[in-house]
Parts: sequence; structure tokens; C-alpha cells
Amino acid sequence: MLVADVDEAAAARVADEIAGSGFSHRVEVSLAAEMLALVERAEVEWDGLDVMVNNAGVGVAATTPETDEADWDRLMDINLKGTFLGMKYAIPVLRDSGGGCVINISSVAAIVGVAERAAYSAAKGGILALTRAAAIDHIAEGVRINCICPGTVDTPWVRRITEGLPDPEAARAAMRARQPHGRLVSAEEIAAMAAYLASDEAGSIVGAAMIVDGGLTAR
Ligand SMILES: NC(=O)c1ccc[n+]([C@@H]2O[C@H](COP(=O)([O-])OP(=O)(O)OC[C@H]3O[C@@H](n4cnc5c(N)ncnc54)[C@H](O)[C@@H]3O)[C@@H](O)[C@H]2O)c1
Repeated sequence: MLVADVDEAAAARVADEIAGSGFSHRVEVSLAAEMLALVERAEVEWDGLDVMVNNAGVGVAATTPETDEADWDRLMDINLKGTFLGMKYAIPVLRDSGGGCVINISSVAAIVGVAERAAYSAAKGGILALTRAAAIDHIAEGVRINCICPGTVDTPWVRRITEGLPDPEAARAAMRARQPHGRLVSAEEIAAMAAYLASDEAGSIVGAAMIVDGGLTAR
């Protein structure tokens, strides 16, 4: 397993925890050469590739008129192009390894309107559409491609957003309230869905958007 992130220290911390030292890799997902090098390293070290998870993402809170062009470009580069590049380089290696799967991290913002998330929603919607298109293109080659659409997940991202607000606890309470199960989704619940999608039991799940949102989109 390789844990890759633009934040090298964070990747090393997670890799140490789950796989042991030496299993982290610094990557800027919007740069083709770096994504190619990441996939090549995995292929060489493990003599093939079984699973690629495209998870890196950034957000900006803004309506369409409020969104800076630079923010639009940055979100598209990291969220959508990063996922595209991960798939572009991983799919041939997964195929040549005898089959495997891709798991992209989209969002409920690809499915329902979320206030003040214009560029983010567009990028995550692009990930969902790309997932479906690529799933059809590559299933006959033994490469299963799906995405996960999380609701609000308790991660450093959400903690960063709420800490910057005048009343962080009220903001967290509002986030909990918009999910019918009354709490944030845990990172472990998203990881469990990824593990399921990567398993043989998910062999008939192809081009799907697996919603893990405590009922947010069921309202
Ligand atoms: N937290 C949520 O509520 C939520 C909901 C739906 C979807 N998501 C998605 O889940 C994914 C993970 O988000 P998170 O909540 O863990 O956020 P996070 O900010 O805690 O983690 C995102 C990670 O992506 C890395 N990253 C950012 N830009 C990068 C780049 N250019 N190249 C390589 N790595 C880069 C960051 O260093 C960070 O480690 C994202 O795609 C996000 O959009 C999160």
C-alpha cells in the first residue's frame, strides 16, 4: 500500500499507522508527471496494481458569481483533473495486472444542490460522470470503477472550516442536524465503503455512486 499526498509528513504519519514506514509518497495530483511517477512506483514495488483510490480534494465556499476564476481553476485541477490523471495512469496498469478497481471520492454535492459550493459541486459532479463513463469503458478489461458520495464527514477539513467560524460548536451542530441520523459521518465509515468496493463481494458494483450520508440525500 502507498499513501500519497501533497503533504508528505501527513502521508508518512498515516502510512506509519496502517502499513509501516516507507509506504508514503509525495504527489501533487494535478501534475501528470507526478501522478505517473506515483503509479509507476506502486507498479514496480508490488509488481502490479490492485486498487487506486482518488481521494485528494479541496473546497471553496462560494456561489457561482462569488467564485474567483483562480479558485475555479484550482478546484478543477485538484479535484477533477487529479482524479482524471489518477485514472489515466492507473487503469492500464490495473488491466495489465489481471484486473482491479478504482474508487473515486465524489460527494453528495454531485447529487443534490449544496449552498455556496458552486465550483466544488461542479468538480464533484464531473468526478461522478467520469466514473460512470470510465466504468463502461473498462469493465470488460476487468477494471471496476466506482465512486463514493460522502455526506459531511468528521475530518480535519470540517474541523478547519468550523474552527474559523464565530461559533464553531453551533456550526458543527448545524452540520449534524442536516444529516437525518443526527451526526457527522465518520472517516472509518467511508474507509469501510472503500474496502467493500475493493473486495470481491462488490464484483457486480460497476459505475455506481455509493452514498454514505446519514440520509442527507434521502430527504
Ligand atoms: N469531509 C467531508 O465532509 C467530505 C464530504 C464529501 C467529500 N469529501 C471528499 O473527501 C476527500 C477527502 O477530504 P477530507 O475531508 O479528508 O479533507 P482533508 O482536507 O482532511 O484531506 C484532503 C487531503 O487531500 C490532500 N491534498 C489537497 N490537495 C492536494 C493535491 N493537490 N495533491 C495531493 N494531495 C492533495 C491534503 O493534503 C489532505 O491530506 C476530498 O476529495 C473531499 O472533497 C469530504
